[in-house]
Amino acid sequence: MIWKLETNNTAYVIGVNQAGYLLNLHWGARLPDYPSPSESEGYASFNGAGQILPEEYPTYGMGLNYTEPCLKATFSDGVRGVALQFDSAQQTDNTLTLTLKDTHYPLTVKLHYQIYAEQDIIARHVTLINTGDTPITLERAWTARWHFPPGDSYYLHHLTGRWNDEWVHHRERLTNGVKILESRRITTSHHHNPYFAVERGDATETHGEVWFGALAWSGNWKIAAEVTEFQSTRVSIGLNDWDFAWVLEPGETFTSPIAYAGYTQQGLGAASRCLHDLIRKHILPHSDLTRKVLYNSWETTLFDVDEESQKRYAEIAAEIGCELFVMDDGWFHGRNNDTSGLGDWWADSVKFPNGLTPLIEHVNQLGMDFGLWLEPEMVNPNSELYRAHPDWVIHFATRQRTPARNQLILNMARPDVQAYLIEKIDRLLTEHNIRFIKWDMNRNVSEPGWQDAPRDQRELWVRYVHGVYHVWETLKNNHPQVIWQSCSGGGGRADLGILRLADQIWISDNTEPTRRLAMQANFSRIFPPNTMEAWVTDMGEQTIPLAFRFHVSMCGVLGVGANISRWTDAQKAEAAHWINEYKRVRHIIQQGDVFQLYQQDGYYATQYLSQDQRNGVLFAFRTYRPEPTTPLVIRLQGLSPDHTYTINGVSHSGAYWMTIGMTIQLHNFGSIMWDIHQV
Ligand code: GLA
Repeated sequence: MIWKLETNNTAYVIGVNQAGYLLNLHWGARLPDYPSPSESEGYASFNGAGQILPEEYPTYGMGLNYTEPCLKATFSDGVRGVALQFDSAQQTDNTLTLTLKDTHYPLTVKLHYQIYAEQDIIARHVTLINTGDTPITLERAWTARWHFPPGDSYYLHHLTGRWNDEWVHHRERLTNGVKILESRRITTSHHHNPYFAVERGDATETHGEVWFGALAWSGNWKIAAEVTEFQSTRVSIGLNDWDFAWVLEPGETFTSPIAYAGYTQQGLGAASRCLHDLIRKHILPHSDLTRKVLYNSWETTLFDVDEESQKRYAEIAAEIGCELFVMDDGWFHGRNNDTSGLGDWWADSVKFPNGLTPLIEHVNQLGMDFGLWLEPEMVNPNSELYRAHPDWVIHFATRQRTPARNQLILNMARPDVQAYLIEKIDRLLTEHNIRFIKWDMNRNVSEPGWQDAPRDQRELWVRYVHGVYHVWETLKNNHPQVIWQSCSGGGGRADLGILRLADQIWISDNTEPTRRLAMQANFSRIFPPNTMEAWVTDMGEQTIPLAFRFHVSMCGVLGVGANISRWTDAQKAEAAHWINEYKRVRHIIQQGDVFQLYQQDGYYATQYLSQDQRNGVLFAFRTYRPEPTTPLVIRLQGLSPDHTYTINGVSHSGAYWMTIGMTIQLHNFGSIMWDIHQV
């Protein structure tokens, strides 16, 4: 039996062999014919068939297999291990469900596949069903295993970081053994991202075979990239099994997060554009909405906000052309610094004696939308909420509760916590004309206890994320006019799961423009520009011209976070000019294709092109290069070769611009923004 999942340019083929193993037969280009499932008895007594065959969803406890399994469970009689047998298949034009059943125990496993033909991407998830009458404890329940053609060796691309320093790209050779990337922090994390790209070592931005994927999950996750001694390379992806357990009661179903993965022959840039297209067309809630230019005074005022001063910032923000005014941290009950207030989500009566409405009305009269910062999952011990419900935080009763940034984490798995947050935030959104929420999350978990957990406490890791999703989704459904930003001390919660709820991501607290250039390019390996908030702040103002700072932030969703009350008339006029320019081209930036043309030795260049290839925008930057030096030479991408394009007053064919390219002379901290027009 063989099942083919074909996208516009790729094929993913699965089959069952004589011995009953479900195998991946091919993942790559569409071909006239595909391999049949191979048989293997194993290799000597030390390596069983499972060690050698490319199993689609291997389990622990079946035969002589010592590679990473996707599923591990314990049955009520203490038997550890799942032995699955193919049962049935259901295929439609763009879905496939394979049902497998344990040979002895009442466990059904369904592997679900969905085809995104245009994006050359396949989505997978699993459901695990207890059809018996005693509980089954899941100890690992990954989403998917992805195999690469056997016999070759591969390079793994992945992203790492830390707070204030996210989105660092790594490329490394996979050698025998297992390379683990993961989060144990209860969020996606700044440190690793649940994304991979794999190639044979010959892929560039524009050429070569690339297999890539990402997990849509905003909590603990794991990627295991394994090379076996039989030269087989595979990547598995799913919920982190570290400190994980899930009790599947009789009749219950467990659903894994979704993993998306795709294949291209056009290099790493094309892989990114497949993901961008998928995210924009199938994941983002308000993908078509033009993202507004935002102002936020956080980096200037910190917690020092009140009605009068925020009104003054709003007036200047409106004057330079901002369309959305967001009040950050500091506005709610008792919040004068980071030691108090979190949890008490009503306006501080000293800073806002008449509530938030006078400020919001002023902002609206200036022609802007109003937005607000919230950190729903957190509580300061110094708050009304904590005094009333000290047991609502994640903690072990006998251990100290370790604060971080003076705050503790509410146990979002608890229905009472969810209900409290829904009630408080719902009221804010109902009583005020709020069009934007920045949802922040400023620490990671410690002492991961759930004292009165209905089942195994270790379910916390997953149920917490379900709780976040539930609260967010409820608020979103009740208030569809609100645009949401996902922030976790910068880029700590950026993933395809949160993008079903959030429209935009705050990618880093680091807004220094030269550091941003690499961060933004690497963020864009996964996420499209209409999700990437980028602000012009005061960072770098001593050395870096305002034009450069604007150009960097214009590469995503432009915002301003600088101290605009200090700006001279000339600076305000220049800012207004760039904001206007952004509004003129933002449909191309937010909705077009992105090409990372250059990222080396202090030079950066990024090109945006409308989907119809007619209009584009080119940005190029020189950070610092000591003299004497060579100019930047770039070749454009994605143009129609036979059409003529005008760039900076010069006209050539698309073929010319893509083959000969152009030379750009830039001084240190110089930048350009040029239109690309098809004649
Ligand atoms: C985090 C965010 C910042 C800001 C502060 C407020 O650090 O990343 O942008 O909102 O919290 O406390």
